[in-house]
Amino acid sequence: MYRTHNCGELCEKDIGKEVILSGWIQKKRNFGSLCFIDIRDYFGITQLIFSRKLVDKKFFLGKEFLIKIKGKVVERSSKNNKIPTGKIEILVSQIEILNSSLPPPFSIENKTDGNEKIRMTYRYLDIRRNPIKNNLIIRHNLALEIRNFLSKNGFLEIETPILINYTPEGARSFVVPSRTHVGKFYTLAQSPQLFKQLLMIGGVDKYFQIVKCFRDEDARSDRQIEFTQIDCEMSFVGVTDVLTFFEYFIKHLFKKMKNIQLEPFPCISYSDAMKMYGTDSPDIRFGMSFMELNNLIKRKNISFLKEQELVIGIKVTKCHNDHDQINFFLKKIENKNIFWIQYLPDKTFLSSNSDFMNEEIMRIFINHFQVTPGDFLFISYGKKRKARETLGKIRLEIANLFNLKKTKIFKPLWITDLPLFEWNEKYKRYKSVHHPFTSPKEEDIHLLEKHPESIRSKSYDLIINGIEIGSGSIRIHNQNIQNLIFKHLGFSVKEIESKFGFFIKAFEYGTPPHGGIAFGLDRLINLLEEDDDIKNFIAFPKNNYGKDIMIKAPSFLKKEKLKELHFR
Ligand code: AMO
Repeated sequence: MYRTHNCGELCEKDIGKEVILSGWIQKKRNFGSLCFIDIRDYFGITQLIFSRKLVDKKFFLGKEFLIKIKGKVVERSSKNNKIPTGKIEILVSQIEILNSSLPPPFSIENKTDGNEKIRMTYRYLDIRRNPIKNNLIIRHNLALEIRNFLSKNGFLEIETPILINYTPEGARSFVVPSRTHVGKFYTLAQSPQLFKQLLMIGGVDKYFQIVKCFRDEDARSDRQIEFTQIDCEMSFVGVTDVLTFFEYFIKHLFKKMKNIQLEPFPCISYSDAMKMYGTDSPDIRFGMSFMELNNLIKRKNISFLKEQELVIGIKVTKCHNDHDQINFFLKKIENKNIFWIQYLPDKTFLSSNSDFMNEEIMRIFINHFQVTPGDFLFISYGKKRKARETLGKIRLEIANLFNLKKTKIFKPLWITDLPLFEWNEKYKRYKSVHHPFTSPKEEDIHLLEKHPESIRSKSYDLIINGIEIGSGSIRIHNQNIQNLIFKHLGFSVKEIESKFGFFIKAFEYGTPPHGGIAFGLDRLINLLEEDDDIKNFIAFPKNNYGKDIMIKAPSFLKKEKLKELHFR
């Protein structure tokens, strides 16, 4: 028998019991003839006490040795109220080493001295630490809650293939050579997109899957090459049905996991989001939406801005008076078409643009924004897209600088009506903003020939605190429109047939209207736990260069193996 109890459960009511425990040595202290050891398992830590004679002569006990002990539960003289077992200790009568350990390469404590590289190399040791172990427990609980909620609401979890053919989803695919079919390749699924649509054609009413997806793209703190989606699809739905249900879903998860009641999610169109925040994923925890100033400039005849396509500004209230810091981050922003004005407490003005600004102009802006002493104005001008993008960046920098990204506050919003296409300068053709299966808005289809970039799609993103947590759309369910979209994306008739023939064919058998969404599970947990790296919630993540440094993947293959796969 390895244990009668685990290392996290013994307490005062067990005093006097004879017990057996097994665990890893976390700490060892010698006090005269006595030895104190903390042993740890998945459940917690228990303090052991025994005479040094019991072990001294027989064997050495080091950190992370796995031991089994037999002993009696006794009351502790100096109690530790921070842990559940803190009122007792075990007076050890027998000790056995189940396995020795090398000295761990970093401390297995909540606060460790190990850097990311060493922790990733020995990830199994990192998982022994509470922060990582607890994150995996949270992930399990969240996945369980998701499964229960979706199942109760009529969604069926169905697995779809991972080894498929290439489908255009915006990222590069990983390819897998086929051994049995010479010269042919599978690709790893970037998402179950086509299969979940085929399930709808197959008459499944509501589908979901907690599914691994693979994308050959640069990893970052919110992006892995191998990540997990909560992938969902529903038949006979329009945009409102999907947004209503999944708002309910996300609210449920926040309530269950964090006891947070989210406010109703605002819905902003993509074009309004760009106008108001200069980004399609705005963080709305802090205000500072953009104000357009072109009319004001015309009215007041401010000559140096009159010719600009767009002039926009934001007001930052009661921020610090640190011009050096502000100038420092303005310098980091490449676009120079920006300046600030500060209304000082003594009611005088200061501007970063002394060449063109005089007191009269500054007063025009100060009055327009209803600025009070201590406030800053930031003005950006130039071509629409650039001016918005720049002020969007400044807005975020200011939020960081002045600590406006409040913790424990979650502000979700839906971004809708994203453009169907965007121009790809490199390939000189249009590409889908979401994916080619997204339905255009009916009222915009007539723009297909002349202004494809102006077509809005029936798509939506869920943004929470500036992070894209989910993305989806109502799909095309009409064969002709699907063909038309493929053609506009530059696929030849032959390519459409070879790549998507099976899909187009399925459209001939009474395809129901359908739509769905996929949420990034890793990102959702990261957000819920207010962490800054999704790696902390993945048992065995890749590093930011797409490598698993523990197993040393990717790696070279032996010649024979390559030959088997038909590589010379
Ligand atoms: P999309 O590509 O937008 O949509 O992905 C959906 C959500 O998945 C998460 N995500 C990622 N998380 C971690 N690492 C990555 N590399 C990564 N890429 C995406 C994001 C994102 O919002 N098939 C469509 C969904 C649909 O239309 O239903 C799709 O995959 O949180």
